Amino acid sequence: MEVIILNTPEEVATLAAELVSKQVQDRSDSVLGMATGGTPLKTYEKIIKKNMTGTLSFAEVTTFNLDEYIGLSPEHPRSYRYFMQENLFDHIDIRPENTHIPNGLAENPIDEGPAYEAKILAAGGIDLQILGIGSDGHIGFNEPTSSMGSRTRVKTLTESTLEDNQRFFKAGETQPTLAITMGIQTIMEARHVVLLANGSGKAEAIQQTIEGPLSARCPASILQFHEKATVIIDEEASSKLELTDYYKRVREEQETLLARFGD
Ligand code: PGA
Repeated sequence: MEVIILNTPEEVATLAAELVSKQVQDRSDSVLGMATGGTPLKTYEKIIKKNMTGTLSFAEVTTFNLDEYIGLSPEHPRSYRYFMQENLFDHIDIRPENTHIPNGLAENPIDEGPAYEAKILAAGGIDLQILGIGSDGHIGFNEPTSSMGSRTRVKTLTESTLEDNQRFFKAGETQPTLAITMGIQTIMEARHVVLLANGSGKAEAIQQTIEGPLSARCPASILQFHEKATVIIDEEASSKLELTDYYKRVREEQETLLARFGD
């Protein structure tokens, strides 16, 4: 796992946007895995800027989002489809038909999982997956004790996730307790996984992800098994790590190596 500790959320977003840019510049028809939530917002702002200034085109890109609430229509302001349109898709040159999000209104939500998996497979798999992390260590909506071998399916959200996400819902609005989410195995099959986290609220989950035991109690810890996982965090999110100096030294030496031998 590559652990990159930066000073601020701004720097985290700058690097994440650079990684997305590099992926799309290397392969214009890349398949990107997208995330919702507060964490990737700044990254999306920076991607929009790059697209506006003409340095980055999404004309041939395909995207798959991690998850969607069951019961919310694409027009519902709290749905993840709405979030993605508002915060990214409506502002870049991506083709609407190339953007995929699980259907929260599927007539049969149980069948939606395998159907979504089939679409990812038909697109050739995900090249780069952006991830946030829950304070309980979830990735996508794979809550603690999710099967490490899981695929896209319906999940029941934990109390902790419902509390964390309550801030997005207005008083009186019904907050769904079920979601359709890519599984842990689905995420693990992405060729490159980039996990972003900011703030002290994520420090415990980040420590468990990077240094804790591999455990379904912290689903993100599975990334210890990924061949190419990059964890980009700010100082606050790194505050509970024990080997911080080592991660910083690894990065310095990595940069020296890259400067000499290229990538
Ligand atoms: P956040 O959520 O980015 O809003 O903190 C992350 C997540 O729950 O995966």
